[in-house]
Amino acid sequence: MTEALQGLITDSIPDHPLLQGRREIGRGESTIVVEADTVGGKERVFKILSSPTDYAYYTAPDRPTGHHFPIVYADHGQAGRSSRGFPFHIVEVERLYPLPGSGDTAEVATKISTAYFDACMMWRNLAQDMGRIALHHLAVTPMGWADTVQESLKALECFSDEYGALPDLIKADNLMMRKDGTLVFSDPVFME
Ligand SMILES: Nc1ncnc2c1ncn2[C@@H]1O[C@H](COP(=O)(O)OP(=O)(O)O)[C@@H](O)[C@H]1O
Ligand SMILES: [Mg+2]
Repeated sequence: MTEALQGLITDSIPDHPLLQGRREIGRGESTIVVEADTVGGKERVFKILSSPTDYAYYTAPDRPTGHHFPIVYADHGQAGRSSRGFPFHIVEVERLYPLPGSGDTAEVATKISTAYFDACMMWRNLAQDMGRIALHHLAVTPMGWADTVQESLKALECFSDEYGALPDLIKADNLMMRKDGTLVFSDPVFME
């Protein structure tokens, strides 16, 4: 299947000295991810972002930070314009991994996605606001996950409200993990 049919951004990696010769390791609707250098034993990637919401999620001074949020090492500025109509921004971020099929972290992720989906169904008549209300429901309802997860959901809710972002906790690859198994909200928001 071609990228366009899968809904993936079709742009090639923009021309920028930092990106030359880098291996592409991921691609979504609005982001291209390439390998960056490993520093002090920690693997890094460059996220080439075309969505202003994703750019805010990774660089805003009041972006959510803490145990379950991606570590951002640097904002390398712009690199050309994407087919989505916005400039690309290059942000250097810790490398994350897909969730395995089973295990504690995968279970928590599934629980978050399922609870979020159920809440969306509950408030689907709210159309436009459905996702944010569903996230609010998760943020204020203890569902047996760790306090750090509950706090992160609250922080995500604040960010969504502040930046007019819509949550996306359903698509499996938007939740990822560190090598040590920590759940990370890698790409939990998108643009309205
Ligand atoms: N920090 C990361 N480390 C490694 N791979 C990543 C990282 N972030 C995203 N990816 C991969 O790149 C894909 C696209 O990234 P994502 O942030 O979900 O972009 P989009 O906003 O386009 O959905 C993901 O599905 C995942 O496979
Ligand atoms: Mg994504």
